[in-house]
Amino acid sequence: MQTPPIPESSIRKVININGQIFSPDEAKISIFDRGFLFGDSIYEVARTYEGIPFLLQEHLDRLWKSASRLEMPLCYTQDQLSAEVNKTLAELDAGEAYFRIIITRGEGEISLDPGENIKNNLIIVAQEHRPYPTWWYEKGVHAVITNVVRVSKESVDPNVKSGNYLNNVMAFMQAKREKAFDSIMLNSQGYVTEGTTSNIWIVKNNTIKTPPLQAGILEGITRKTLLQLAKMDEGPAIEQVNFTAEELINADECFLTSTMKEIIPVTQVDNSPIGAGTVGAMTIRLHTIYSDYVKKVVQGL
Ligand code: PDD
Repeated sequence: MQTPPIPESSIRKVININGQIFSPDEAKISIFDRGFLFGDSIYEVARTYEGIPFLLQEHLDRLWKSASRLEMPLCYTQDQLSAEVNKTLAELDAGEAYFRIIITRGEGEISLDPGENIKNNLIIVAQEHRPYPTWWYEKGVHAVITNVVRVSKESVDPNVKSGNYLNNVMAFMQAKREKAFDSIMLNSQGYVTEGTTSNIWIVKNNTIKTPPLQAGILEGITRKTLLQLAKMDEGPAIEQVNFTAEELINADECFLTSTMKEIIPVTQVDNSPIGAGTVGAMTIRLHTIYSDYVKKVVQGL
């Protein structure tokens, strides 16, 4: 049974703009901001469990990596940014929260040239997180292979988490049109890359496979964590290898990973069931290992 969506308006939100806390109605940003004009910004999506930011340092490190790849000077230190995140979360005061850190290159003339004296705008959006529908995890979701090709590493590298997400928006719109949960994007060589906001994995003959970074994907923090955990589990081998849409459709299991959603089983791709069309044993096992790890981190073990 599908859980009815929670009305957006009932989800509490707190916004931090350059260190000042605002309500969603008051929060404003200049129309000359380059994030608005050109998608010239970087961002991270992270979450709390029981009020504690999860793997914040990893998110900050990836943010700094994105800035460096875009030659975007940052006027904050990681400690300052961490303090701003904690301030915003304290204001929200929710056990389970979603938070999005956005840093734009700043404001200026409407010109591709950012000029010399540009100063970042920092926006942190923190909001209550309500649990996702349980059927996503119990029955699995339906994905489609989109014909929107993943942007290549040589143009806007998907491994930079930038505000330029039109490639993903277009792919997601196709999923929505086809009443699917998400789209899986292929690269120009025809290999599977990732979902629109998640990494993808398949299981075939007891081997777990996920596309390598070279396929043109975001190096997900959940992906990285799961790779490390699975290694310690002494379970089946994990390969970071290219695979095609056909291999995906013929897989025994498939799942998506992301910070907010953790591990979501995919039980149908296009019109084909994956494996038996039910949630696979390996997917369940990996989600258990991941949840146990989350508990340990939250308890500070
Ligand atoms: N998206 N691939 C893409 C394209 C993503 O946008 C994301 C995350 C991931 C998974 O990364 P991580 O495990 O670090 O969350 C993979 C976030 C959640 C978002 O934009 O909402």
